[in-house]
Amino acid sequence: MEKINIAIDGPAAAGKSTVAKKVAEALHYTYIDTGAMYRAATYLALKNHANLDDEREILALLKQAPISLSYTDDAQHIFLGEVDVTDAIRTDDVSNNVSLVATHKGVRREMVKIQRELIKQAGVVMDGRDIGTHVIPDAAVKIFMIASVDERAERRYKENLAKGYEADLEAIKADIRQRDKIDQEREVSPLVKASDAIELDTTSQSIDEVKNEILAIVKEKVN
Ligand code: CDP
Ligand code: CDP
Repeated sequence: MEKINIAIDGPAAAGKSTVAKKVAEALHYTYIDTGAMYRAATYLALKNHANLDDEREILALLKQAPISLSYTDDAQHIFLGEVDVTDAIRTDDVSNNVSLVATHKGVRREMVKIQRELIKQAGVVMDGRDIGTHVIPDAAVKIFMIASVDERAERRYKENLAKGYEADLEAIKADIRQRDKIDQEREVSPLVKASDAIELDTTSQSIDEVKNEILAIVKEKVN
């Protein structure tokens, strides 16, 4: 079967990465999590006590410890220089600051450069905020995944509980709202539905239902 590239965008905790991973698995494609790249840049800046408003400082740090990705057992690993930071980038501190770092034009340019290298060979499911609008404007399938804020917060809450951590539901809601706002209002490549993207409201859908819906859309395109 001919291979295509699939772009999945949407707000925080809509289910993008969970579903994208399953779609990639079903199609034997590679799943690429672009949020991890902005998280890695943020982790690096925080670790070095950089001024997050100063993109030159962040870019200088990224020059010393460039971001790279590797794929083993179908899982994405992200590195800063030689250091694997796949787990280290998932802290609240990174989550609370990543949208600010992601507003910088130069930082975005560097991330997009890496992302475009990865899509040269088709067969990629890439998720993020600007994939359908900017990174892969010619993607054969573009999905814009949404869900209500309450549902998204509930999903994150349950995810934390499963990891043995009881988070504050209202705090999760506030984080989601704040990140969505910064992502939607930034000047460079804001979070917006591409005109040719298919919007999927997953508020009352299970992971498998969303996965199957996307696989049906892909099947229609490829055949
Ligand atoms: O936590 P969640 O999975 O919702 O977010 P993520 O995919 O890890 O992305 C973290 C943050 O990175 C987003 O809130 C955006 O600020 C930024 N991001 C972006 O600007 N562009 C992308 N293509 C991916 C992520
Ligand atoms: O990548 P993004 O931030 O859009 O969301 P995610 O991390 O894939 O999903 C957030 C949480 O919602 C995860 O715990 C998923 O298992 C869950 N989820 C769900 O319960 N129902 C869906 N239809 C999609 C995701």
